[in-house]
Amino acid sequence: MSVYIKLVYTFFMNIDLQAFFKETRLKTEKICEPLAVEDYVVQPIVDVSPPKWHLGHTTWFFEEFILVKYDENYKRFHEEYAFVFNSYYESVGKRVIRTNRGNLSRPTVDEIYRYRHYVTEAVLRVLQKNTTEEIAQLLEIGIHHEKQHQELLLTDIKYILGNNPLLPAYKTSFNENPKLISKTNDYVNVEEGIYEIGHREEGFCYDNELGLHKVYVDSYQIAKDLVSNKEYIAFIEDKGYQQTLLWHAEAWDWIQKNKIESPLYWHKIDDEWHQYTLAGLQKINLQAPVTHISYFEAFAFAEWSGNRLPTEFEWEIAQEKFEWGDRWEWTESAYLPYPNYKKAPGALGEYNGKFMVNQKVLRGGSIATPSNHTRPTYRNFFHPQLRWQFTGLRLVKV
Ligand SMILES: [Fe+2]
Repeated sequence: MSVYIKLVYTFFMNIDLQAFFKETRLKTEKICEPLAVEDYVVQPIVDVSPPKWHLGHTTWFFEEFILVKYDENYKRFHEEYAFVFNSYYESVGKRVIRTNRGNLSRPTVDEIYRYRHYVTEAVLRVLQKNTTEEIAQLLEIGIHHEKQHQELLLTDIKYILGNNPLLPAYKTSFNENPKLISKTNDYVNVEEGIYEIGHREEGFCYDNELGLHKVYVDSYQIAKDLVSNKEYIAFIEDKGYQQTLLWHAEAWDWIQKNKIESPLYWHKIDDEWHQYTLAGLQKINLQAPVTHISYFEAFAFAEWSGNRLPTEFEWEIAQEKFEWGDRWEWTESAYLPYPNYKKAPGALGEYNGKFMVNQKVLRGGSIATPSNHTRPTYRNFFHPQLRWQFTGLRLVKV
């Protein structure tokens, strides 16, 4: 590439990145608009962070990884915020432990918004100078990181409001079921063979999608539709939660200990199933894809139905032939590094790699996933008992 073309390319890449950055920062704040100030503070369980912590943490990410390193004139907004808003980066320094995020009455929500705007302006000033490729790459990760937190914000807000006895709506117009299932009972047939797995296109991806490699699969048939609430209710009514033989040992202990008898947010009122949604409490829509189930429940349902969950490879190979994106789909795959996986250098190597133990992969995306954030090779991952994300399942015929 000639120097001139490279300069023009860098110039336009900067304009795009600036717009992408600004739009992402605004979107996060837009998600919080319906909240009352008290909603920003609470942390009902360890997995759910207070909204104000998300606002501060996504800001700290840009401050720590870009401003402090690449802007010699940058002065931190507050010397202690790195301690308050670092999430899990051991190599960056000490931090407030995760369980204590909800104990922080300070900084106030107002102060955190001021912090956000201070950092947003400082990053834009850096971008208006001559941005290096290194800064552009860090900025891109920071933007995608914030998009991940946009999804967490929505699911954490849902948990906060959905566990309040008043069950307040987040936004009455919010539709969690944009696509209903008119059950086709169709399956996609995939021939046995060797297929390439992993990210191979232009454009952003996380390090855990890299390491393009080949995988052999036997022929299989994967459902075109997700499992619906109607089907899931049949499992409940057949006493699926009481049939020991359907469950893993850990799962059985988990449902006994926590008295689990239905998906998260389900309430039986006057003998009818309801579910708390971001639009408030609603009757269960039988044609909607089931959501807020753990891997444990997805597996037990598959056992009960006489089928199985797909592996993440089977999902990726077949995904072009079905619609996806409303529910994160549990797979049977453990979250492991691909062959030739390389962690990013430095602190950002902590982003994905250190979590590759004891978790299951989910594929697809959900109605809470920001637009253009997910892709066919995206690997989400959670512990098998967790269900506060918009999770669901798709079956493979046995
Ligand atoms: Fe984060």
